[in-house]
Amino acid sequence: MATIGLVFLAVCATVHAFPEEPTPYRNTIFNDEKLEGQIFEDVNLFTIRQPSTRRDSIYRLPTKTRPIHYDITWKINMNTHEFSGTVDIDLHATEPMVNEIIIHSHELKIDSVVLKLGDTLINQTHSLVAAYDFLQIRLVTGTLNYNATNRVMYRLSIAFNASLRDDMSGIYRSWYNNYNEIHWMASTQFQSTSARSAFPCYDEPSFKSTFNITIRRPVGFKSWSCTRQLLNSVNAAK
Ligand SMILES: *[C@@H]1O[C@H](CO)[C@@H](O)[C@H](O)[C@H]1NC(C)=O
Ligand SMILES: *[C@@H]1O[C@H](CO)[C@@H](O)[C@H](O)[C@H]1NC(C)=O
Ligand SMILES: *[C@@H]1O[C@H](CO)[C@@H](O)[C@H](O)[C@H]1NC(C)=O
Ligand SMILES: *[C@@H]1O[C@H](CO)[C@@H](O)[C@H](O)[C@H]1NC(C)=O
Repeated sequence: MATIGLVFLAVCATVHAFPEEPTPYRNTIFNDEKLEGQIFEDVNLFTIRQPSTRRDSIYRLPTKTRPIHYDITWKINMNTHEFSGTVDIDLHATEPMVNEIIIHSHELKIDSVVLKLGDTLINQTHSLVAAYDFLQIRLVTGTLNYNATNRVMYRLSIAFNASLRDDMSGIYRSWYNNYNEIHWMASTQFQSTSARSAFPCYDEPSFKSTFNITIRRPVGFKSWSCTRQLLNSVNAAK
């Protein structure tokens, strides 16, 4: 097993067509991101005009929950051109009375969904809304605990799998030619909306988080990334 701990910050740019008239909207900039020293500190210097029409905004995630950290493991099978994975998302509610968590997932088979508060299992049901790339997790009873001064952390664990894609998005297969021999590799492309094809996640720029990533690969393969490697590879991949 090769273990690589990574921490990175997603910086994404989005381009929108502006409508003539501003329309009511839900923004995904959180109030604490507008505070001094935070990323959107000066956001009010700009004229914020709603880029989305009402029709577009149905594709946006609700901001009622927010992720803090992701632990991701991908296991890549270069023989079958498939991958499987698990993601543990540490998240909290941002307001009282929240009874669902909505995140993105695109063309991933969802094996299992588990929600926990500490060691306590929270009963939930999940469903995919393919038209919006949503994975919707609904509490069977009650709402997520919420405390304005002391956030209550939940852990959402999801197992998933998919084929390596062939459209250069998410985790996709590509190849190179070395002395007339074709070699396959798996590569990633997450911007602007392709992370949701690689793991279930809050796939919008304002949901900043830290990420610890583990890659399990076949023996004889190597892993490269363009961010810090915190742990050395353990060369015992299966
Ligand atoms: C992929 O997920 C599907 C749906 O849960 C499951 O039936 C299948 O066994 C999984 N395959 C792998 C290789 O994990
Ligand atoms: C969890 O929810 C399912 C579906 O509603 C129900 O069948 C089951 O009894 C619930 N389990 C607990 C421990 O509440
Ligand atoms: C919120 O957390 C603070 C600090 O732990 C605690 O003093 C307070 O009682 C909590 N409020 C509620 C409503 O649980
Ligand atoms: C991420 O991985 C590093 C290295 O193993 C570890 O020190 C750190 O505590 C991890 N972070 C979280 C939030 O789990």
